[in-house]
Amino acid sequence: MNYGNLFWLACLVIGHTQLWVALMNRLHALPLGHKTLRRYRILHDVAIPLVPLWMLYGLGLTGPQLLWNDHWRSLSPGWILFCALCALGFLGFVFSVTRHYLERLTPKLLKLDSTVQDIAKKLGQKPIGAGPYQSLAWLPFNEQFQIELNTKKLLIPELPQELDQLSILHISDTHMCGTVAQEYFEEVCRLSQELNPDVVIFTGDLLDQMEALSWFDSTLNQLSAPLGRYFILGNHDDELDEQTIRSTMQNAGWIDLGGHTLITQWRDCDVELGGSEVPWMNGHPDWPTEKRDPKTLRIFLTHTPDYYQWGVKHSADLVLAGHNHGGQIRIPLIGPVYSPSKTGTRYAAGTFSSGKTVMHVSRGVSGQHPLRFHCKPEVTKLMLCAQTVNDQRGSE
Ligand SMILES: [Fe+2]
Repeated sequence: MNYGNLFWLACLVIGHTQLWVALMNRLHALPLGHKTLRRYRILHDVAIPLVPLWMLYGLGLTGPQLLWNDHWRSLSPGWILFCALCALGFLGFVFSVTRHYLERLTPKLLKLDSTVQDIAKKLGQKPIGAGPYQSLAWLPFNEQFQIELNTKKLLIPELPQELDQLSILHISDTHMCGTVAQEYFEEVCRLSQELNPDVVIFTGDLLDQMEALSWFDSTLNQLSAPLGRYFILGNHDDELDEQTIRSTMQNAGWIDLGGHTLITQWRDCDVELGGSEVPWMNGHPDWPTEKRDPKTLRIFLTHTPDYYQWGVKHSADLVLAGHNHGGQIRIPLIGPVYSPSKTGTRYAAGTFSSGKTVMHVSRGVSGQHPLRFHCKPEVTKLMLCAQTVNDQRGSE
């Protein structure tokens, strides 16, 4: 057995898998129809296990018989091209994993306090209803019901001094549909309210079934904040009756920022708010690239973090996003694999910074598929800190 070639063949198999996964992530970032995406998913599901077997047979056991010989030079042009593509995929995999670890270390995240609440334990049973994919919710080691309640202190470089220590509850991606039962969301919202935020912001994907809209009053609508509750919708809401979802939230006093801008005052300070549900609904906020007054705070809500750079270009101080759910399944040492984004897993979840703009991507509260591994659902209270807080870092 040539163990060196076995290793290189394994690297090519990883590279091959990476190419299919990367394409899957990027296709799911586009507003494509269900049928198109399903066709690709079938192709992806078949190719990932079968092509490596074909490689093992055609390269390892027959042809150049790489498992015993060192005959890489005898590869046909077709195999050379295929192996070169897989090698590129492997380099992409190494790059992606390395970036996942490096980008988590943004200096703009000053402090993180985190507690985990096991909702199933609190309720005495797993809150599982009769919706689709319910078998996934029963799987052992599934973290779906272990909500992580975070408080993150973020350094916002141009934060007006009056808004120092302002708190925003960032909640996203509830995907209520009947699979994860109503009691779970009620308990999550009750625990979130105990964080006493100044502002509540929801960044989309409220529902996966319209029937679950009746849960809104006892769940999300129980959240309150003295400076207001704001929302945008997501692609899963767009697949339902999004106008009814929107009007239900508006009638309850939530302020719709989907494709809208708003100038409001928090603590006697001007705040510019804008939201985007692109590429599924509405458009980006009608903002000039510069803030009208550098002393205002500009917050950009976008369901997908794919428009992070749009926020950077338009001088947003804070970008809030959801959609990617942290990848939902994270492989130890590797991190997230699937993330429906043009940038793959880069912005699956977490805190990122570019220039003066800070972005927070929530892992969300649930998902269409109630399955999480090494990726607990989350609700986060963001504490905004002015530049001067830098001096306090050493004492925290
Ligand atoms: Fe979502």
